[in-house]
Amino acid sequence: MRSHYCGKLTANEVGQQVTLSGWVNRRRDLGGLIFIDLRDREGLVQVVCDPDLHDLFAVAYTVRNEFCIQIKGEVRARPESQINKDMATGAVEVYASELTILNKSAPLPLDFNHENSEEQRLKYRYLDLRRPLMSERLKFRAKVTSFVRNFMDSNGFLDVETPILTKATPEGARDYLVPSRTHKGQFFALPQSPQLFKQLLMMSGLDRYYQIVKCFRDEDLRADRQPEFTQIDIETSFMTSDQVMAITEQMVHQMFNELLSVDLGSFPRMPYWEAMRLYGSDKPDLRNPMQFVDVADLLKDVEFKVFSGPANDPKGRVVALKVPGAAEKVSRKDIDNYTSFVGIYGAKGLAWLKVNDIAAGAEGIQSPVAKFLTPEIISEIVSRTNAANGDLIFFGADSYKVVCEAMGALRLKLGEDLAITQAGWKPLWVVDFPMFEENDDGSFSAVHHPFTSPLDTQAFLETPNTELKLGALLSNAYDMVLNGTELGGGSVRIHTAEVQAKVFTLLGISDEEAVEKFGFLLEALKYGAPPHAGLAFGLDRLVMLMTGATSIRDVMAFPKTATAACPLTDAPGAANPQQLAELGIQVVTKA
Ligand code: AMO
Ligand code: AMP
Repeated sequence: MRSHYCGKLTANEVGQQVTLSGWVNRRRDLGGLIFIDLRDREGLVQVVCDPDLHDLFAVAYTVRNEFCIQIKGEVRARPESQINKDMATGAVEVYASELTILNKSAPLPLDFNHENSEEQRLKYRYLDLRRPLMSERLKFRAKVTSFVRNFMDSNGFLDVETPILTKATPEGARDYLVPSRTHKGQFFALPQSPQLFKQLLMMSGLDRYYQIVKCFRDEDLRADRQPEFTQIDIETSFMTSDQVMAITEQMVHQMFNELLSVDLGSFPRMPYWEAMRLYGSDKPDLRNPMQFVDVADLLKDVEFKVFSGPANDPKGRVVALKVPGAAEKVSRKDIDNYTSFVGIYGAKGLAWLKVNDIAAGAEGIQSPVAKFLTPEIISEIVSRTNAANGDLIFFGADSYKVVCEAMGALRLKLGEDLAITQAGWKPLWVVDFPMFEENDDGSFSAVHHPFTSPLDTQAFLETPNTELKLGALLSNAYDMVLNGTELGGGSVRIHTAEVQAKVFTLLGISDEEAVEKFGFLLEALKYGAPPHAGLAFGLDRLVMLMTGATSIRDVMAFPKTATAACPLTDAPGAANPQQLAELGIQVVTKA
């Protein structure tokens, strides 16, 4: 039904008879002639309908936007004056000799010339995907997966599928559960990742595994989080963390080179605690040059409790964040808005200091907290932050966590608002993550997942549990970060039952619970499990960054809303009573 794609016609086809099939992007009546911009997956081309061809013209007269039509005709060069440089096919047009309406279209419920609501776009996703911007993104995504498969295949990785109906895998989110009909009252969990299966494949001796695979996590959704998303999942045997980082870095580097003609350079490495110290984040956006400067040691004895409290608290933190050249640009009202903004992250205020004239001493400083600070302290803050006249310094004082989150978010917002964040690409590896983090109730959880190896396994094994400082232990885990987004994360895995059992104990998982949840893994570790390591990339995030989209929803064909629903199919929906009876499930509805 087609000889060429509309969007692929060039001057080379001039003189050829072509058959095109696609949708009417726009129809224009101009001085007797009818012009149709015909669209298919590859783009648009202008079709000319001549009134001298009476029958054809009569049909052309009835077509409307989004009708699906077929035309046959000759490719002609446009006269010089009519060449459209904004259109890929702008040097040519097709002089139609036949026009067939393949299917009419009702007026679309989406208006392609205006912004449509997210709800409406998702309800009519199949129409939303007709927009060239959207289909371009899906085409780009297909290029990325094709690149990944070629890269993996040529490096000896085997594509192996793993189960979707399985047992819980602890990646930190809630599970999606699927009731079993044959085992009433029991449930499968959808995998949060194929983590345990890929480790088992290493124990099978498959050596190098990859899979482009759906993962399911019931968690709070954001622009870069969906309940089902896709990982490029990788596992290797007999490779060190350096080797895993090298090969995955090579993949991303080549991908950017081939698909975007971008050279990412080599990725610097930053220890986790360094990232927290300088940026308050384990995924720092290095396009933004602003850094935190710790000042707690200067403020231990000041009268102002807001500062001295956290400065004397071992779990507290006080930082200064210098914003270059912002003293004039940022008004009192802006500061009020930034104060509300940091409030979202739990900060109770946002002290500030404008450096108007350093030479004038105290006179040259404007700040609501200056009265609490000695000239020496102010001078030391100015010197540590390397502030110059015209700079603005913000202060965050609170628990370590609140300061990192609130001031980290403020840093990113200021970077955008004041155009401090530069364009371009800033990749890095964040390494030496803590092994465990303390929960509010004093218990500990795994920072990556509980199968991650300590950085120093020997020392970990030799130190009695009671003497281990859990909060200070480092793991052999690494994240790849690009422009402030965590693209992927991985680790060297525990490959002996002894270390695995010790980690479970430290996490407060009893022997019985460990056997119930992960007995198969502990058993598998007994039979000559090889040293192994891996990593998983978030494919959606990677494509989002590469296409310049602002949400992963825009690079997924059929994403879900922020409340994890699908307006297109109306999922999730009620189950019919017979299905529920078969499953042995009774639904309790709240009154
Ligand atoms: P992790 O949980 O860090 O590691 O996930 C790996 C990568 O997957 C992406 N990602 C998501 N993308 C979209 N929506 C989500 N809800 C979502 N959650 C995670 C991120 C993240 O970096 N099994 C380990 C990997 C390993 O150790 O090999 C794992 O799943 O880009
Ligand atoms: P107050 O004395 O509470 O009015 O606060 C004086 C200044 O300190 C104001 O600019 C507040 O925004 C700021 N401030 C209050 N709490 C904090 C905090 N936890 N961290 C940083 N600044 C704060």
